[in-house]
Amino acid sequence: MRLLIVGGTGFIGRRLVEAALARGHELTLFNRGITDPTLFPEAEHLRGDRREGDLESLAGHRFDAVVDTCGYFPREVEALAHRLATATDHYTFISSLSVFPDPVARGTDESAPVAELEGPPPDEITSAEVYGALKARCERAAEAALPGRVLAVRPGVVAGPHDPTDRFTYWPRRISEGGRVLGARHDQPVQLIDVRDLAAWIVHSAEARLTGTFNAVGPADPLTMGGLFEACLEATGSDAEPVWKGDAVLRRHGLEPWSDLPLWLTADNEGFNAIDCSRAIYRGLRFRPLAETAADTLAWDRSRPAVARVDHLPRERERELLSR
Ligand SMILES: NC(=O)c1ccc[n+]([C@@H]2O[C@H](COP(=O)([O-])OP(=O)(O)OC[C@H]3O[C@@H](n4cnc5c(N)ncnc54)[C@H](OP(=O)(O)O)[C@@H]3O)[C@@H](O)[C@H]2O)c1
Repeated sequence: MRLLIVGGTGFIGRRLVEAALARGHELTLFNRGITDPTLFPEAEHLRGDRREGDLESLAGHRFDAVVDTCGYFPREVEALAHRLATATDHYTFISSLSVFPDPVARGTDESAPVAELEGPPPDEITSAEVYGALKARCERAAEAALPGRVLAVRPGVVAGPHDPTDRFTYWPRRISEGGRVLGARHDQPVQLIDVRDLAAWIVHSAEARLTGTFNAVGPADPLTMGGLFEACLEATGSDAEPVWKGDAVLRRHGLEPWSDLPLWLTADNEGFNAIDCSRAIYRGLRFRPLAETAADTLAWDRSRPAVARVDHLPRERERELLSR
C-alpha cells in the first residue's frame, strides 16, 4: 500500500510506521518536523501544521490508506478528511476510550453512548472529559466527510517503549527496585495494550479496509493489578512484595486514583478498566504476554535520562504511606 501516517513520530505513530515498513508498505509521514524529525529516512516526509489548516504539501498525492494519529479537534479532522476525499480509499482515526463518559459501566462496548459537548467545540482541551467528547466529535466528523471509509480505533491505556505518560512504565520500574511496593487492591481489574500490538492491528486493518468503530485494549482474558504485579516480577526477577492498602486507606491519605498511583481506580469507578474489546479481537487484535511488554518498557526506561521520567508516586511519599 501507499500509506500516509499523519504524525508518525510520536509514541503510537512511530510504531505504526515500523509495522507498516515491516509489511513492505510505501510510507509518507505528514507532520510539522518538530518531534524526532530524523526518524525514518526511508519514508517520504511532508511538512505542515494541520491545526493551522496548512495541508498544502498533501496536494497531488494519492494514498491507498491514511492513519491519523494526532487529531484532537473536529475542525482539524474535518479539514484533513475533506482534503483526502479524492486522495484515499481508507482513513483510520485514532480515537480513545475516553469517548465514554464517567462512570463507565463494566462491559461497555461500541454501542454505548459517548460524551457530548454543549454548543460549539472548544479550542482547548481543558479536562479529560473535554478530550473524550472532542474525540467523539472527531469520529463523527471523519465519518461525515468520508462515509463508509472510516475506521475509528479507540485505544485504552497504551503501554510500551516511548510512552510519554509513564502510566504503565511506573510499575515495572518500581517493581524492579524491589522492597515493599504500595498498591491499592490486588483484585482491581486493569486493561492496557502494548503499543506494538495496537500498531500491528491497525496496519492489518488498513490492509483489509476494515471500517467501523472498535474499542482497542487488552488483554483478551481479564487482568487484575495482582496479575500485573506478577508479570512485572517475572520480567524483572525482582523480590518486590506488594502491599495492598485498599481504596479507603489510600484516599484517606490524600492519594488521587489514576494520577497519584497510576492505573488505580476505586471499586466504585473501575468500569473503565473492564471495557468490552471482543469486536476488535474477533477482527484480529492480538496481545503479547504482559511480561514481554514490562521487560521491553523497563529496558527503554533505563536507557533514557532520569529527568525524562514521570514519577507519579515519589519513593519518599510511598515510604511514608507504607510506614503508617
Ligand atoms: N497514549 C495513550 O495511552 C493513548 C490512549 C488512547 C488514545 N490515544 C491517542 O493516540 C494518539 C497518540 O498518538 P501519538 O502518540 O503517536 O501522537 P501524538 O503525540 O498525539 O502526536 C505526535 C505526532 O503528531 C505530529 N503532530 C503533532 N501536532 C501536529 C500538527 N499540528 N500538525 C501536524 N503534525 C502534528 C507530531 O510531529 P510534529 O511534532 O513534528 O508535528 C508527531 O509525529 C492520539 O490521537 C491520542 O488521542 C493515546
